[in-house]
Amino acid sequence: MINPEEFLAFLKERRSIRSYLDKVIPDNEVEMILEAGRWAPSASNKQPWEFIVIKNKEILREISKKAFYGKHIKRAPLAIAIVGKINENPNYYVQDTSLVSMNMMLMAWTLNIGTCWLGSMDREKVKKLLGLGRNDFLLTILSMGYIKGKIPKPSLRKDLDAIKKEIK
Ligand SMILES: Cc1cc2nc3c(=O)[nH]c(=O)nc-3n(C[C@H](O)[C@H](O)[C@H](O)COP(=O)(O)O)c2cc1C
Repeated sequence: MINPEEFLAFLKERRSIRSYLDKVIPDNEVEMILEAGRWAPSASNKQPWEFIVIKNKEILREISKKAFYGKHIKRAPLAIAIVGKINENPNYYVQDTSLVSMNMMLMAWTLNIGTCWLGSMDREKVKKLLGLGRNDFLLTILSMGYIKGKIPKPSLRKDLDAIKKEIK
């Protein structure tokens, strides 16, 4: 089991990373990230998802053109599109795939691989580029790569007192 204090410190240390070294991520590390995603929980354990590993530089550049706040993706050696299969879990595919993304980001961080969510993009155009159809929900494209430069300072979080309520 993981030490709880260390785990909390690990969670606090993770940052979204948008600058990457021009260095290939070996297949065994990509597999570990995918494996972490595969072990995410899902409603009724339906696992309504598919992961697309994108290494093609031209496709990454095309995605970045269709992104509103995602120029970082063209600098990444690799990205993983997390796709929800809508008809496999119609009420929960968003939650299920979101949990996948967190597992992948945390696994990557243990490998010194930084990730960043791409949420703001022209989804329909990117879906077309990836050959996705009507039953496919494109949650995000997680760019990833070894961290270039310094890890950015912690992004702020709301105080716990401001968000915590208790029912006694
Ligand atoms: C649903 C969602 C969508 C996001 N979309 C983008 C995006 O389009 N481009 C980007 O650079 N970062 C994106 N992010 C990353 C957030 O900006 C980042 O997680 C947030 O500022 C907190 O910083 P941290 O991840 O370093 O703690 C997204 C994150 C989430 C959870």
